[in-house]
Amino acid sequence: MAEATLYFPADFLWGTATSSHQVEGQNQNNDWWAWEAQEGKILEGHRSGRACDWWDNAEADHDRAAQMGTNAHRLSLEWSRIEPEPSVFSGEALARYREILQAMHQRGIEPIVTLHHFTNPLWLTEKGDFDSDIVVDYFRRYTAKVVSTLGDLVDKWVTINEPMIYVLKRYLENAFPPPAARGWSAAGRALQHLLRCHAAAYHTIKDVYPAAQVGVAKNMAVLEARPGGNTLDKWWAGQLSFLFNDWWMLALRDGYLRWPLAGGHMQNLARTSDFVGINYYARYYTRFLRTYEQEWPAGATVGDGNYGEVYPYGLYRVIRHALRYEQPIYITENGVPDMEDKLRPAFLLAHLRELWRTVNFNWPVMGYFHWSLVDNFEWEHGWTQRFGLIAMNPETGERRLRRSGQLYSEICNSGSISSDMVARYAPQLMSNLFPGSTGDLVPAGTPISSAS
Ligand code: BGC
Repeated sequence: MAEATLYFPADFLWGTATSSHQVEGQNQNNDWWAWEAQEGKILEGHRSGRACDWWDNAEADHDRAAQMGTNAHRLSLEWSRIEPEPSVFSGEALARYREILQAMHQRGIEPIVTLHHFTNPLWLTEKGDFDSDIVVDYFRRYTAKVVSTLGDLVDKWVTINEPMIYVLKRYLENAFPPPAARGWSAAGRALQHLLRCHAAAYHTIKDVYPAAQVGVAKNMAVLEARPGGNTLDKWWAGQLSFLFNDWWMLALRDGYLRWPLAGGHMQNLARTSDFVGINYYARYYTRFLRTYEQEWPAGATVGDGNYGEVYPYGLYRVIRHALRYEQPIYITENGVPDMEDKLRPAFLLAHLRELWRTVNFNWPVMGYFHWSLVDNFEWEHGWTQRFGLIAMNPETGERRLRRSGQLYSEICNSGSISSDMVARYAPQLMSNLFPGSTGDLVPAGTPISSAS
C-alpha cells in the first residue's frame, strides 16, 4: 500500500452548502410553500414544514459545522421574508439574518450568500416574476436593501443559483412551481430576465463594495453521447453541453447571448462575474434530439432515487473546462443523496482526490462546499433524498453525525485526504486513489463502488 497524504492549500475554503427554503422552515410566503400544499406535487406528499428549524436555530447547526472543522458555509437569503410585500422590507427578518451571519463569523465560518435559490415571494409570482420585466427592478431593490444592511458581513455573493436547472425544471418540466407560461419561448424570456437580474445585482453590490466577489452557482454536468452513439448523438451532446454548461457563463463574460439562430448583446452584462461557482453532481448520457436524459452506464453507482451517476472524474473534467473563464473557481455544491451513507465516504474521497489533482496543477480552485451540512427538504423529492453529512429526522429534528461527516471533519481539520483515511473509510478505493505496491492501477474515471 502506498502511504501518502495529499494536502490542499492552507487557505482553502472547506465548507458546506444549504438554501433558505430547504432548511429554514415555515417559509409560508413563497411559491414553493403554495406548491407543496397542492396534492401530488411533492413525492409522498412531503412538506418543507419546519425543515431544519434554521429560522429559529441555525446556530445549533453552525456549532456542529464549526466542530466539524469547516471554515465556510454557503447559505441563501429568503426574499419572501425580507420583502414580504412589494417594497415593504422586514427589519425583523434582516436583523435575524444579521444575527445568523454574525454567529457564523464568531464560529470562524465565512458565509457565502446566495440571493436567489429557486424560491420567489408569492406577490412576485402573482406579478409574473421572471416572465416579466418588473422582476429586474424588484431584484435590484431587494439586493440594494440586503447589501446596505448585511453587506459588511459578506465578501462573497452568489446572485442566482443554477439558472439553467431553474429554467429547465420550471419552464420545460413540470417539477417546480408554475410560471405564468411554460414552454421554450417562456424559458428563453425567463433566462433573459435572470441574466438581467444577475447583472443588476452584480452592479448594485459592486457599487457599494467594490472588493466584494460576485458570481453565480452554475450547475455543470458532464453530458456526452452514450457509448456506441452515432455522429448525430455526439454532435447533439456537444450542443446540449454548450447550452447547459457554457451559454450562461459566456454571456456573463462578454455580454453576448448566443441563441441558436441569432445572437444579441445585453447591456451591462459583460464582465459581471468575479469567480466561477460550480455545482457538480453527475454525468448523463444523451441521445440525438433528447433534451434531458436520465441515462448512465450499466452498473454505474447511482445516488438514492436514481439521482444520477456518481462520476468523480467528472469533477476534474468540469473544472478543466471552466479554466477557459480565467477566474477563481469554487465548487459551490457537490454531494449525493444517500440515506444509509453507503456511498458518501467513498464519494467524498474520490471527488476530493480529483479536486486535489486540479489544485496541484495550480489551477485556481479556492474552495469546496459539500451539499449538504444536514439533511434538508429536497424540492420535488421532499424528504426522500438525504444529502446531509449530518442525518436529521424531519419528524423530531434529531441529528446524528454520519460516518461521512466524521470523515469530512478529518479532512477539514487536516486540510488533506490521506491513504489512512481511505483505508479506514473506503478501502475499496485504495488501489485507485493511492496506487502503489499493489500495482493494480485503475484508470481515473473508474466508477466507485459501495463499501463491501
Ligand atoms: C440545488 C440544491 C439541491 C441539490 C441537490 C442543486 O441542484 O442547488 O438546492 O438540493 O442540487 O439536488
